[in-house]
Amino acid sequence: MVAFYAALRSIKLYPLEHSTVQKTLGELAQVAELMRSEEGELEFRISGEFIFINSTRLRLDLSNYATFGHILSLCKAAGIGTIHVGARGTVREWSLLLTLLGGETKVSPDERLAEIISRLKQAAIELFQLDPPMQAGTDQEFNEEAKAAANRTYSQSVAVTKDVINSVRIGKTPNIRKIKRVVQGIVDQVLNEETSLIGLTALRDYDEYTFTHSVNVCIFSVALGRRLGMTKLQLYELGLAALMHDIGKSRVPLDLLQKTGDLTEEEWKWMAAHPWLGVLVLFQFRRQQEELSYRAMTVCHEHHMKVDLTGYPKPIRPRQVSVLSKIVTIADGYDAATSRRVYRTEILTPASVLEEMRDNPRRGLDPVLVKAFINLLGIYPTGTLVVLDTFELGVVSAANPNPDALSRPIIKIISDAQGNVTSPPLVVDLGIPEANGEFARTIIKTADPERYGVRVSDFL
Ligand SMILES: [Fe+2]
Ligand SMILES: [Fe+2]
Repeated sequence: MVAFYAALRSIKLYPLEHSTVQKTLGELAQVAELMRSEEGELEFRISGEFIFINSTRLRLDLSNYATFGHILSLCKAAGIGTIHVGARGTVREWSLLLTLLGGETKVSPDERLAEIISRLKQAAIELFQLDPPMQAGTDQEFNEEAKAAANRTYSQSVAVTKDVINSVRIGKTPNIRKIKRVVQGIVDQVLNEETSLIGLTALRDYDEYTFTHSVNVCIFSVALGRRLGMTKLQLYELGLAALMHDIGKSRVPLDLLQKTGDLTEEEWKWMAAHPWLGVLVLFQFRRQQEELSYRAMTVCHEHHMKVDLTGYPKPIRPRQVSVLSKIVTIADGYDAATSRRVYRTEILTPASVLEEMRDNPRRGLDPVLVKAFINLLGIYPTGTLVVLDTFELGVVSAANPNPDALSRPIIKIISDAQGNVTSPPLVVDLGIPEANGEFARTIIKTADPERYGVRVSDFL
């Protein structure tokens, strides 16, 4: 951004041939190419008042306000929402884009964008792909669309995962490319709009546990990875590893997986073998042309090992559990504990699961990553039934995007103080205070949906 700004300024001040202009443009082309080759792509995107470079939102503060603000207003005036930068840009290509961007104008942003695109085309410059900002439309419309897209991604992912697991079970090698596409779909969806997919993880289907579990672990892992600042390519790798973490279970007899009672020692041996069985399955995948990273195998192997190595399999030598495994272990533990399964009648509320993950050292989780995970989901994760100080009941529908308001999620109020059903449910952002600065509603506790006869999935 600094290089971009410097080049814009110098073009404004000097003629194009001037050495300062050539130097700043050269630096811009160089740094852009460096980023592109390191991260695999380079995309500059504006969303509202935020600037994203690939998946990272740039932090706006006083020291860079002038720089960012200037670029933001130029792009807005030029009708630009995203600039996708191709490989090995030259000074000539960048100079034309910046000249066009900095030019004076009286036409509307839409017309400006069309003009810039056609001028680049005339000059035979294909380095940049410019697109208008994502139309937010009316919020309602946008939300509906985002929700529909998230639903599509989710159900496709579950279908492909089911296919993969079932084909491994009957001894076939599934198509890796298909799995990779699923992961890409999830990563893209999480990058575009974090909350919509996370909301879907609460809609677990009891019969399809094995498949929805893998997809949920993938979604939680990718969303957490994103919070940790991973690049898109790193997220692909993490997502793939997360989706495949339990693939070894397809080598464990089905009746054992579905058994409700206690396991015999022999049976437990089978269950505890699924991490390394998974590594073998992934090794077989490697016969295909498509590259499959060793990191996915590491995650398979390590996801029950725990940070203090008290889990299984027992490592022979001292080792450090990889960060991808630590992330997947957290996602795995959370999803398993919040799902209702055959052999568990009592289900913990999502909030109490998070609390337990944070406070119980025997879980063997990385405390810093757990903290980031709680930041991601909020103290009251999506799908939590909550009681408000107004005695109304609500279901959490999304975490508050503001990290300072973790205890004030977006909720749907489903019944009033007298217990009458609110239909349709009233959507309230608990983080918005009244005119007098006080909050109209505050969560006082979470509640067990069973006890209130509420099916939270009906409200998600
Ligand atoms: Fe597992
Ligand atoms: Fe699992």
